[in-house]
Amino acid sequence: MFRRITLALLALTLCCGQALAAEKYIVASDCTWPPMEMLSADKKPEGFSTDYIRAVAKAAGFEVEVRNIAWDGIFGGVATGQYDIVSSSVTITEERKKQFDFSDPYYEVVQAVVLPAGKSIKSLADLKGKKVGGQIATTGIFVIRNAKVGAEIKEYDDVGLAIQDMLGGRIDAVICDDPVALYYVNKKADTAGKLNLSFKAAEKEYYGFTVRKGRKDLVEKLNKGIKAVKASGLDKKLIEKWMGKN
Ligand code: ARG
Repeated sequence: MFRRITLALLALTLCCGQALAAEKYIVASDCTWPPMEMLSADKKPEGFSTDYIRAVAKAAGFEVEVRNIAWDGIFGGVATGQYDIVSSSVTITEERKKQFDFSDPYYEVVQAVVLPAGKSIKSLADLKGKKVGGQIATTGIFVIRNAKVGAEIKEYDDVGLAIQDMLGGRIDAVICDDPVALYYVNKKADTAGKLNLSFKAAEKEYYGFTVRKGRKDLVEKLNKGIKAVKASGLDKKLIEKWMGKN
């Protein structure tokens, strides 16, 4: 008799416990994109997108664990279910939308061309015959490639390596999202003052959180969270926190 009651109670606690526990999602971020996603001094993911996805999760009532995953392969991992969400300053593009689903946009950027201090260009056409670096398979690379200006394009795993190569005189220019360009130009201790953000592309891009195709439930939760983060003004606070003093 007692045994039966104990068992019943146990079953009840187990099932209710499960119902009450918030869903937990694994989030992949390539932490080489400061100040959007980067590693703190103790090697933990931090940055604008990192704070943003955590705020979204809190507002929509789920939990997240953010992991540092290399950009090259980050989309493959979400497609095969190694993690649930890519939060990595991913620009929503028509091409990517064929393979993945996206949340509503959470931030707007443009492509920026960074040159060594003292140098400048007026348009992408001025990069003809120049060596231009960027992170592999990013929209920056797509923009310079599609412009067909006759630049020599060099793709790096990490945009920081492209900047270093430029400061070392091995390439002429770097193209990346404008908040990242501003971070290297104004903020990062070893590069600030040595660079010039010389040109911004006109075309606007929008960041979205990326999920495997068909995960409608998750997209809805993300959108609910994004809406709440925007409505509460928390997004403005995060912009000020990470981009404010650029
Ligand atoms: N916004 C660009 C794109 O979607 C670059 C994103 C790179 N993100 C990163 N964490 N490395 O292609």
